[in-house]
Amino acid sequence: MIQIEKLSKVYRDRGRQVTAVDAVDLSVRAGEVHGVLGRSGAGKSTLLRCVNLLERPDAGRVVVDGQDLLALSGGRLRKARQRIGMIHQHFGLLSSRTVAGNVAFPLEVMGVPRAERAERVRELLGLVGLTEHAAAYPAQISGGQKQRVGIARALAGRPNVLLSDEATSALDPETTASILELLRDLNRRLGLTILLITHEMDVVKRICDSAAIMRDGRITESGPVRELLMRPGSELARGLFPLPPPRPRPGTTVADVTFEGDSADRPFVSSLARDFATDVNILGGAVEDIGGTRIGRLRVELPGGPAANTAQLAHLRGAGLTVEVHEAEEAPA
Ligand SMILES: Nc1ncnc2c1ncn2[C@@H]1O[C@H](COP(=O)(O)OP(=O)(O)O)[C@@H](O)[C@H]1O
Ligand SMILES: [Mg+2]
Repeated sequence: MIQIEKLSKVYRDRGRQVTAVDAVDLSVRAGEVHGVLGRSGAGKSTLLRCVNLLERPDAGRVVVDGQDLLALSGGRLRKARQRIGMIHQHFGLLSSRTVAGNVAFPLEVMGVPRAERAERVRELLGLVGLTEHAAAYPAQISGGQKQRVGIARALAGRPNVLLSDEATSALDPETTASILELLRDLNRRLGLTILLITHEMDVVKRICDSAAIMRDGRITESGPVRELLMRPGSELARGLFPLPPPRPRPGTTVADVTFEGDSADRPFVSSLARDFATDVNILGGAVEDIGGTRIGRLRVELPGGPAANTAQLAHLRGAGLTVEVHEAEEAPA
């Protein structure tokens, strides 16, 4: 649905050059919610704005719904862009227009006749649960309701792709949850493909099927969320299961064990202790619900260095668990 190939964007600002997006490849399948996670300045907004050509890339290809956007111009580009909705952190509503008037605005720009417009606005407000607030002005509604107006407005052109730039970053946790639920619901009911960018791990955890991590204009890892969490060394996994930096004591083995689905129900700690007659010290961990699947990570400490625990570690890996062993610090001389 969205295919980004070798996309680059360089800003030139008073003789200074900033490579905001650096040869990024990214693909989002139809009907998927894909999250791009990264710190401020990573290039996320620029990447997103290149997907609907709000920003003209310096190099690369952007194919949305089978259309190479950079090869289009005039009316055909305008039509293609109408099929890509966008929502923003600060909503961008017109304060002089009512809720209904804000949603009608893009329809006016598209030249939709008045009667059809009214009908479509009613439908859109129903979709986001704002029917009763049609006549209210932005100043009279809450932040969550404002974002619902933003979503209704973004859906006016019946897009099959929705781009979301930190849509929940200005909202409190409870409102965030309800907006994410709405996005998930629209994704399922309308088959809407959603590409969202965020700096919040929680957003990825709640609604993303797949995710990518962006840093300094580059994608450092990407894939289905469940797969990333099971991948050794994954930054996404480290972010989702925050554990303090490991400090293995000399003569011990400290390992992070990640398990998914049924292995969460298998008592691997007790079987390890029993089968190898070893002590297993639990140093920390957490279990998360990821799209209906339980994924957990446990940090365990075993007596003896990694060389002495080869069979134990192989046993865990053989059981389908992801095992990451932390190097011990050098013993003081
Ligand atoms: N219009 C612009 N002119 C010059 N530099 C910009 C512009 N927009 C963004 N940048 C720079 O590009 C980099 C990426 O910015 P941005 O895409 O906004 O990142 P993010 O959304 O991840 O915070 C930053 O270094 C930022 O300062
Ligand atoms: Mg941004």
